[in-house]
Amino acid sequence: MKYFLHPLGCATNKADAERIATMLETVGYSAAESEKDANIIGIVACSIRQSAIDRIYGKVHNWNKRKDAEQLITFVSGCILPADEKKFLKLFDLVVKLDQVPQIPQMLKEYGAVAPQNFWEINPRRNSTFKALIPIQNGCDKFCTYCAVPYTRGREVSRSSADILAEVERVLSEGYKQITLLGQNVNSYGLDKPGEELHFAQLLDAIGTLADNAPQKVWVHYTSPHPRDMTAEVLDVQAKHPSLANYLNLPLQSGNNDVLKRMNRRYTVEHYMEVLDMARSKIPTMTVSTDIIVGFCGETPEQFEKTIEAMERGRYDLAFIAQYSPRPGAVAEKRFEDTVSKEEKVRRDKTLTEVLKRTALENNQRLVGKIIPVLVENASRKSGMMLGRSEGLKSVEFAGDESLIGQFIDMKITQADSWRLYGEKYI
Ligand code: SAH
Ligand code: SF4
Ligand code: F3S
Repeated sequence: MKYFLHPLGCATNKADAERIATMLETVGYSAAESEKDANIIGIVACSIRQSAIDRIYGKVHNWNKRKDAEQLITFVSGCILPADEKKFLKLFDLVVKLDQVPQIPQMLKEYGAVAPQNFWEINPRRNSTFKALIPIQNGCDKFCTYCAVPYTRGREVSRSSADILAEVERVLSEGYKQITLLGQNVNSYGLDKPGEELHFAQLLDAIGTLADNAPQKVWVHYTSPHPRDMTAEVLDVQAKHPSLANYLNLPLQSGNNDVLKRMNRRYTVEHYMEVLDMARSKIPTMTVSTDIIVGFCGETPEQFEKTIEAMERGRYDLAFIAQYSPRPGAVAEKRFEDTVSKEEKVRRDKTLTEVLKRTALENNQRLVGKIIPVLVENASRKSGMMLGRSEGLKSVEFAGDESLIGQFIDMKITQADSWRLYGEKYI
């Protein structure tokens, strides 16, 4: 009996899929090479944009057709909005809410396996032997007006720091080289358990100490911080530990204060830039990425101009630019009109991509001639070439073979374009 999982969306869903995989293996399923070999298929849904939800409907229709000829169980888990849940109940055999993942054995009516008490007790079946995803919190209390997450994952709950540190120690002892700490708002880690839990800076400090002292070289990344709650203390901790990577994803969303207000982001562009400048002054080699939404409800051409200015000012290495997609049930969808046309959203998206292309190229060109460590990930499409990532998660291509996967290699950077660095192994 075999299973196949489709995690859609962000790294949080990929991490959750690793725990869902464990539960399926508990009841005797093993991983299928491909979807067509599977007896059970699970999709880990993302609700952030309508396009991600549309993909699910497309896939489940095909699976349901397969059911005429063979026995197939389908389920959906992950981030599901209440409006979609009702429809999913009709299309899938099971809808498995995230807090029901430990009950998968009972839901599949396969008894005999002992189900863990809670989600975090599940030991994930990791998809990589050198990169570990470690969730530190679930849900979100921020209620940005465009966003589905508070409705799909509920209110923010911090995982216990003892639990997190135990998982960090476990992956370090197994030789993992990259750890990504995951949460929607990592800066508010622990604030839901006042007096009981560490704050994010303290948690990061403890993790940095463990990773600095591991026998192997380690990079620890975290995502995402919220610009309103980001503190000097967190950045000082990041600067102090060699294992805490010099990388920051600081989501801006818009460069106009009125739009930010309507988004309920609760910071101004000026505050955001202060945080960004502070990060770069404390860690001059910081690689910085951001998230932007173009064409939010009522965004005028003048307001969009401010986002162009902010993108230029931010000198980003990478940006996740999204065209606004109304999410059923979110405040913006109920109260504001989706005024910007699809064509205009596409145009704004392209305009910002051009700005990014320029700033990323300038930043990347500064690395040419430097020697930097790269963690090798996989083969490139070009034969004889491999791909790895820098500490700032920049993609680096070089000549090598698959035996290098999972190793840190010092690389001399010889060439750069906007989206990639090119290097040579430096011995
Ligand atoms: N917690 C993080 C991001 C979570 S969602 C933060 O606060 O930034 C990831 C990204 O998806 C967001 O940063 C945003 O840019 C994008 N996004 C969220 N809702 C969206 C929507 N309705 N339409 C388009 N993009 C959206
Ligand atoms: Fe969504 Fe805002 Fe929470 Fe990020 S902070 S997950 S954008 S509600
Ligand atoms: Fe991530 Fe999508 Fe959920 S972006 S948190 S998987 S809605």
